Amino acid sequence: MSDLKSHINPEQVPQHIAIIMDGNGRWAKSKGMPRVVGHHSGVKSVREVTSAAAEIGVKYLTLYAFSTENWNRPPAEVTALMTLLVETIKGEIRDLNKNGVRLMAIGDIEALPAASYKALVQGMEDTRNNTRINLVLALNYSAKWEILRAARQLAERAANGSLNPSDINEDTFESALSTHGIPDPELLIRTSGETRISNFLLWQIAYAELYFTPVFWPDFGKKELFEAIISYQRRERRFGMTSEQLGK
Ligand code: IPE
Ligand code: IPE
Ligand code: MG
Repeated sequence: MSDLKSHINPEQVPQHIAIIMDGNGRWAKSKGMPRVVGHHSGVKSVREVTSAAAEIGVKYLTLYAFSTENWNRPPAEVTALMTLLVETIKGEIRDLNKNGVRLMAIGDIEALPAASYKALVQGMEDTRNNTRINLVLALNYSAKWEILRAARQLAERAANGSLNPSDINEDTFESALSTHGIPDPELLIRTSGETRISNFLLWQIAYAELYFTPVFWPDFGKKELFEAIISYQRRERRFGMTSEQLGK
């Protein structure tokens, strides 16, 4: 592991890593256990990945924990996930504070069940002064929802005369997104072998490097995170230019 870490260039660690934590259900199924056992095991990965990301200097870690589409799952699984959220946040606050982790959230969190919303807001409040790493949970999140909400908000300001439509640019648009103030992720990871985005951060990943791994989320830990970062650091990010322009 320390060997793997020595392959990471500390000067080029992504500021922001976003992860689609997928495969909890299949991980459990492969072991002959119910899906929710996979969700419970996934919490261990959240802990390990957050700590490893902080260790190498990542400033923002955004985890896709529950999509707007996930409400369509069997009610018992939805309830189990919401209960797990409350229990995990309550149980982790002490360690989050000990490790300098600030909890944040993106998504339509006010529409979460009252107990989940309350635990989340309390967790954010209790960790607000931590600065080592920001752990951003995407909860009841949908990128299309977020973009529509931004468009609506800007349209309302234009209609009431506080914003000139010709002043709408990338900056004003970003200021209306739930990620305002957070730099775009340089690296997006999805576990479980699926190679889709599933309505996650559509605006913000415009130039992110994508990393897909077959590993199920409960098996994804420090080693797997470091491997993803090493893969990211081997890539040439050209932003439309040529290799020669980049002086390579
Ligand atoms: C990801 O694992 C967790 C959530 C979506 C909440 P899944 O529950 O999607 O696991 P699979 O994809 O069915 O294996
Ligand atoms: C995406 O995973 C959402 C989260 C990880 C929370 P899903 O398992 O819900 O995605 P799809 O439905 O397979 O695309
Ligand atoms: Mg899934």
